[in-house]
Amino acid sequence: MKLTLKIWRQDATDSAGGFVEYPLEEVGPEFSLLEALDKLNDELVADGREPVAFDSDCREGVCGSCGITVDGRPHGPVANTPSCRQHLRSFDDGATVRLEPFRSAHYPVVKDLVVDRDGLDRIIGAGGYVSVDAGTAPDADSHPVTHEQAEYALDMAACIGCGACVAACPNGSANLFTGAKLLHLSTTSQARTERGTRAREMAAASEEFGPCSLYGECVEVCPAGIPLSAIAGLNRERLREVFRRRAN
Ligand code: SF4
Ligand code: FES
Repeated sequence: MKLTLKIWRQDATDSAGGFVEYPLEEVGPEFSLLEALDKLNDELVADGREPVAFDSDCREGVCGSCGITVDGRPHGPVANTPSCRQHLRSFDDGATVRLEPFRSAHYPVVKDLVVDRDGLDRIIGAGGYVSVDAGTAPDADSHPVTHEQAEYALDMAACIGCGACVAACPNGSANLFTGAKLLHLSTTSQARTERGTRAREMAAASEEFGPCSLYGECVEVCPAGIPLSAIAGLNRERLREVFRRRAN
């Protein structure tokens, strides 16, 4: 099949950017979007032209680094699927496909399709980790965790930190991301010792992003299937800390 890739090119954060069209021939419907970009970059390099900058790592939907906007939608046309697992079979032969960086005031463009998502790291840095001594693996057996708690924690741990929820949100809210990270830790027994502090600090850090109006666009694009109830959970954890005024 043939495609035209209409790609946002921008040299640096402070540079003006614009779309450039690139015809792409002899690509298969089984190609992922990133493989199509690889092929284009091989051709550009062979021509002595500058390749398109984009992020990727695992290419298996695990690392969260690959997110781009495809025809106006974070990640691409297939719902709840990361950019690295979007395939050309979603597009008609001969179609023009528009590729842009994630669009959000909170994600400055670094170059071409690469954005700076440090704001998400600042939320994690505010408390998205366990700093107490949680013991060794055998110690974990001495902390009873119900099957339901373990399943819930695993569901929330599925967040890959791609940031599509922010890009999809009209307010640029990071509440789905923050809720997933907070609830992942708040439901396991070792991490609960810092539950109150963590809720206060992570909720405060997430305020550099926009407020949540529960539009729900975030869950439409989330590759991890994090549910809207994660946002309710974030609000619940924050209120719990306000009333208890305790670290745990
Ligand atoms: S909540 Fe979903 S969309 Fe947001 S960062 Fe995590 S995986 Fe990505
Ligand atoms: S490259 Fe890792 S999730 Fe897409």
